[in-house]
Amino acid sequence: MELPPPSTPENRPLSNPLLFSGNSNPQLAEEIAKKLKLHVGKALVSKFKNEECRIEISENVRGSEVFVVQSTCTASNGNSVNDSIMELLLMIDALKRASAARITAVVPYYGYAKQDKKTKGREPISAKVVANLLKITGAKRMVTVDLHAAQIQGFFDGPVDNLTAMPVACNYLKHEGLCDDKIVVVSPDAGGVHRAELFAKRLNSSLAIVFKRRPEPDVSEVTDIVGDVKGRIAVIVDDMISTGGTLAKAAEAILERGATAVHTIATHGIFAGEAIDVLERSKIERVIVTNTIPFPNADKHPKFVVLSIAQTLADAINRITTNRSVSELFTEDDEKKIPVITPAPPPVPA
Ligand code: R5P
Repeated sequence: MELPPPSTPENRPLSNPLLFSGNSNPQLAEEIAKKLKLHVGKALVSKFKNEECRIEISENVRGSEVFVVQSTCTASNGNSVNDSIMELLLMIDALKRASAARITAVVPYYGYAKQDKKTKGREPISAKVVANLLKITGAKRMVTVDLHAAQIQGFFDGPVDNLTAMPVACNYLKHEGLCDDKIVVVSPDAGGVHRAELFAKRLNSSLAIVFKRRPEPDVSEVTDIVGDVKGRIAVIVDDMISTGGTLAKAAEAILERGATAVHTIATHGIFAGEAIDVLERSKIERVIVTNTIPFPNADKHPKFVVLSIAQTLADAINRITTNRSVSELFTEDDEKKIPVITPAPPPVPA
């Protein structure tokens, strides 16, 4: 009989997983907790009058496995990206000093990710700085979704589970009949080709690539399209929507080449500045995102669909607490495990 591996501090399941949330996406944290049959731990996550973040963990965490859910984005209460980061860091510090046994930062959307290299001299590598801060503060591991570039995993000196929204997205697209030779999956830039290829494979459809250039930050121009889009519904696949310019411009170019309609799907709906207006005015028929980032009043925008990523995150957390494989979550039939259509619940009234 094969003996189980010896129990070590690294592989021993910790008791009493606890889950806490900052202010950036409390609705998602609640949803995850519900799926795990946990409650969101009591904590004061607020601000002093001088605008500094004020944190107090109100529950005993000694010896516990703790997950802190916080997307590093503009918060549902209007707090800035930087506030969200600071809240996360201070929560981790408070938990560490309160003797939590292991702290995992669950960062469904990892901000500053686009600044993952120097594109010219005298620029910071901001994605690395955020990873350093998380590690130094006391996060032992990180769970995230669709990092802008997978190699950002290497910036964090500890285990990173970079989950993907692809099963949730493909499940929805198939349910809507957006699959097979009816559609063409489109990457909106050269950097997204690998992601689009994986989508095309799952959706059993062909692939096209838009080439874009950025004359300046946050401005995009289409330079070329490779692949046949004529007579098909184009589904543009991206990791994030910031200003909406990439998708709006790509949609115009694709329709000019004879696509019959354009739908877009992206994991992270940042919707910076005028993005919602830009997309509403665009020729895109449907803009699909997940709830890694809160989308207040989504129900007021009929063109937009928000899918929930809570089940994927809950499954990953569950597997981490029991030392089971996380990559096994993403198998050929992973879509079957996700309930058909998972629109996020309506936002919690303020
Ligand atoms: C670029 O590399 C990303 O994958 C997205 O295409 C980009 O961040 C979208 O930005 P925007 O919506 O501002 O065009």
